Amino acid sequence: MYSVKIMFVVSLFIPAVRSSKDLWKLECLPTVGILAETTVIRCYFKDIKDIEIVAVYLTKVGEDKPLFSQEESKRSGDKRFKLLENSTMRPSLQISETMFSDEGEYHYHVTTDSGFKDIKLSISVTARYKNPVTSTWPEKVMDRGPVSLYCNATDGYPAGTINWFDRSGTNWTSNSVLTKDPKVISGVKSVALSSKLTLKSIALDLAPFKCIVFNSKYVQDGLKTLDITPVLDETNMVSSGSKTKSIVAGVIVIGSLTVGLLFALLFFRKRNHTRYEQGNDDDPEK
Ligand SMILES: *[C@@H]1O[C@H](CO)[C@@H](O)[C@H](O)[C@H]1NC(C)=O
Ligand SMILES: *[C@@H]1O[C@H](CO)[C@@H](O)[C@H](O)[C@H]1NC(C)=O
Repeated sequence: MYSVKIMFVVSLFIPAVRSSKDLWKLECLPTVGILAETTVIRCYFKDIKDIEIVAVYLTKVGEDKPLFSQEESKRSGDKRFKLLENSTMRPSLQISETMFSDEGEYHYHVTTDSGFKDIKLSISVTARYKNPVTSTWPEKVMDRGPVSLYCNATDGYPAGTINWFDRSGTNWTSNSVLTKDPKVISGVKSVALSSKLTLKSIALDLAPFKCIVFNSKYVQDGLKTLDITPVLDETNMVSSGSKTKSIVAGVIVIGSLTVGLLFALLFFRKRNHTRYEQGNDDDPEK
């Protein structure tokens, strides 16, 4: 009987509290920042039109003092943080030069001319992969010979992936092996990626190959075109060289023979002609 009474009282009380407290809401979207770039934490008021921000306080969960606060235009705390410009209606925040240490859960306290709200928000930080580096082994490749193509990308976080394509766009990724090497160096997280594409017999006209580096959300972070240096087949070069030489020699021989023949012909004609004339001259004397 007693507990029923309490419940009755409580259930009467709750709607009254709610209606006065939940007239408006403050909400922030989950935020993913990029290392060293500017991150915006998007927040907005719900169910209210005329509202003005008086002060904001951002505190890391588990800490007492705000990491950042702004009262009117007076900012204090971490200088990389600020309220987004022109946002009296929107309590969105901006972090410049985002760092991995910005990751985590925060209490966000916003005081307005219509009361205050205290919500939790979360920030995670990713890092872009740097320009991929490529190489081939062996360095010079024989047509129809074996080759391994390498493509490495560093400084990205979380782990991404690498795909391979030939000049016609055929996907060769299933022939490759990806290794991931996670590191944390003075608070900076990264996962180095190294992909090895092995081909037992490469047709050189498939080159150039492309290695594309994707981040953990499968968005392209980098691309490198990998040309393949063919082995210059020396025996072929020599034989084709000597072939040209013998052709040239043949032309010279035939040419000189022809010229010689022409001279010989001319000489004989001349000689015959002179003889005939001489013969004619001699005749009357005989
Ligand atoms: C790529 O990474 C692998 C494994 O860490 C290494 O053996 C190879 O030398 C690297 N290649 C280049 C071009 O950096
Ligand atoms: C290429 O192949 C890999 C592995 O089979 C696959 O994960 C990837 O989605 C493919 N990419 C495209 C663009 O088809």
